[in-house]
Amino acid sequence: MEPSRISLRPFKPSDADDFLAWASDDKVTRYLRWKSITSIEEASTYIQQVAIPHPWRHSICLDGRSIGYISVRPESGEDRHRAHMGYAVGSEHWGLGIVTAALKMAIPRVFEAFPFVVRLEALVEEENVGSQRVLEKVGFVKEGFLRKYGFNKGEIRDMFMYSLLRSDQIAL
Ligand SMILES: CC(C)(COP(=O)(O)OP(=O)(O)OC[C@H]1O[C@@H](n2cnc3c(N)ncnc32)[C@H](O)[C@@H]1OP(=O)(O)O)[C@@H](O)C(=O)NCCC(=O)NCCS
Repeated sequence: MEPSRISLRPFKPSDADDFLAWASDDKVTRYLRWKSITSIEEASTYIQQVAIPHPWRHSICLDGRSIGYISVRPESGEDRHRAHMGYAVGSEHWGLGIVTAALKMAIPRVFEAFPFVVRLEALVEEENVGSQRVLEKVGFVKEGFLRKYGFNKGEIRDMFMYSLLRSDQIAL
């Protein structure tokens, strides 16, 4: 994948069709906290009410079209030095290095947008080997295995905790 084809930008209302294309796929939402969406109305509402007002939720674009997202949400109050990161891309684009490249692009922008954030965290289910591999390729440190930590789709799951500090190097 030519890196110049990948870009990041805030979501726009006109992304609804492209968003629906991947957000309606259970393979993609399996490890996300939200359920697949099923209609263009739901896609539009989600973009307007969740994606656009979010503190930092960018569309991953391929040749300008929205194919996924990266979101970063700092904790509040005295914990605002810590921010949680999530991401996904449509399944027809998996395995092409897109999310790895997009995260490498996003991280310096996130640290610039939130000067008080020193730690990015990602929680990944044990079975989600592709996501673990992405974080490792970017330079995140696998810190530990959190037993029965996350709730997703009706089940309490084991998760790995990954982090990247502002002072860490993003892998080349
Ligand atoms: C996980 C996800 C974000 C990866 O995005 P991607 O653009 O396909 O990732 P990349 O191509 O940059 O890298 C994927 C790496 O994982 C590897 N991989 C993928 N699935 C794998 C599997 N089941 N077992 C072992 N390795 C796997 C790929 O081979 C690649 O590693 P490599 O470059 O060393 O060959 C994508 O699959 C996705 O959107 N999944 C659904 C949403 C999700 O799980 N989000 C993360 C929640 S924590």
